[in-house]
Amino acid sequence: MTTSTKDYSKYFQPPSYTDAKKRGKEEIEVHYDFSIPEELREIGKDKHYLIQTYGCQMNEHDTETIKGLLEQMSYRPTEDRKQADIILLNTCAVRENAEDKVFGELGHLKKLKLEKPSLILGVCGCMSQEEGVVNRIMKKHPFVDLIFGTHNIHRLPALLKEAMFSKEMVIEVWSKEGDIIENLPKKREGIKAWVNIMYGCDKFCTYCIVPYTRGKERSRRPDDVIAEVRDLARQGFKEIMLLGQNVNAYGKDFEDIEYRFGDLMDDIRKIDLPRVRFTTSHPRDFDDHLIEVLAKGGNLVEHIHLPVQSGSNAILKRMSRKYTREHYLELVRKIKAAIPDAVLTSDIIVGFPGETDEQFEETISLVKEVGFDMAFTFIYSPREGTPAADMEDDIPYEVKQARLVRLNDTLNVFSKASNERLKGQTLEVLIEGESKNNPNVLAGRTRTNKLVHVEAPKELIGQFVHVHITETPTFYIKGDWVKEPVAEASQA
Ligand code: SAH
Ligand code: SF4
Ligand code: F3S
Repeated sequence: MTTSTKDYSKYFQPPSYTDAKKRGKEEIEVHYDFSIPEELREIGKDKHYLIQTYGCQMNEHDTETIKGLLEQMSYRPTEDRKQADIILLNTCAVRENAEDKVFGELGHLKKLKLEKPSLILGVCGCMSQEEGVVNRIMKKHPFVDLIFGTHNIHRLPALLKEAMFSKEMVIEVWSKEGDIIENLPKKREGIKAWVNIMYGCDKFCTYCIVPYTRGKERSRRPDDVIAEVRDLARQGFKEIMLLGQNVNAYGKDFEDIEYRFGDLMDDIRKIDLPRVRFTTSHPRDFDDHLIEVLAKGGNLVEHIHLPVQSGSNAILKRMSRKYTREHYLELVRKIKAAIPDAVLTSDIIVGFPGETDEQFEETISLVKEVGFDMAFTFIYSPREGTPAADMEDDIPYEVKQARLVRLNDTLNVFSKASNERLKGQTLEVLIEGESKNNPNVLAGRTRTNKLVHVEAPKELIGQFVHVHITETPTFYIKGDWVKEPVAEASQA
């Protein structure tokens, strides 16, 4: 399956909209027998690796797997590019500017590669699943040694060996996606742990590249997920984040059992681990049973990231989001009724092809109606191969930019107001580390994921503390450390 630059086209199957949509029900194979061959376990002895990660938490977590693999091959981490013997760019393809960053970086790395020809330079992640990107790297950045896709991570040991001994670029990108490899090593750091519950996406929103770069939806078996979460609890992690492009579709692909995301959350709720988060929820599959389970609270935190993308039914339809504004608002109403403290955040796209001023205003009015605490906002970016890229788009870029500013201004009013409501309250905060700009100030998160700054001793990093909130700027909140230790019970 590995190949050189010359005949790569036989092996590289680019994402195709029509083929991908034909996705069948073929068996998902779960493999439990992964291991690194004996002869590759010392291959990285006295050598160093550096990985630069772009994109979402799925990619961040893949990087942990790649680190785990490299360390089992005796490589050690470094932050210093000059010391590195292997540099990997784990890339994101979701918007054009994500790709631009990577091409810019490749330009910089060329110099390093010329200075140190033994350096192995690799590109992996979502960009490597795109044919146009692979072609561009082959033409303009032929000094790259290795390209591997999102379904080929477990093949890294063999590919790396090949790249070391081959004079030509080694490319392995599978569009085959039916498999789940269970026991890959993972190098987790810190106090929070990511856990994949499913891979891929079958939603095919018309603007989005992810169903092509990540393949079809496939859920990990409940026993495997629960065993991993139990193990993380035993290791002392304070928070886990369950990951999937559309976690509400969890279990839809099981043919032998009726077990969905609500069931999984109900089981994970019983595990002794202080905080459990999940991302991302798709509004269409968010069912009543899940709301019922989340309302039980405990370690299930009251923060729900629920991307709406647009407040206009016409745009939602052309995005193929498969819900309406009314459905979304009804879902929000149900969530708020069942979980009164729930904090909702979202993703919103402005300037989708043909979005009129009136349609944009519907997004603004939806934002006001829901009162999101925060939202990630984006200007639509055409992605080659997706249906929206072929839609007529007559909205000038400046108009799109102005809409983004207006949307952010609207959102900030709500972020600030929701922060102000916390003034005077004492909140449970998990201290994550030093704050970005001031090492004397620690930064942590509330259950609702609000960023909190507090002056307190560094020994508290990794601990739960209580903070009395005194100041509430827009993007974080600030307060005084309340010295009484946090009771175990309130952590759970
Ligand atoms: N699976 C997640 C999101 C994955 S991508 C979900 O469905 O919510 C994260 C966000 O990037 C999306 O929610 C969307 O708002 C944004 N996005 C995806 N494709 C985009 C594009 N082509 N242009 C602009 N924003 C995009
Ligand atoms: Fe992309 Fe839509 Fe899938 Fe999210 S649900 S990853 S936006 S196709
Ligand atoms: Fe980007 Fe791939 Fe995530 S395209 S957003 S890294 S799934």
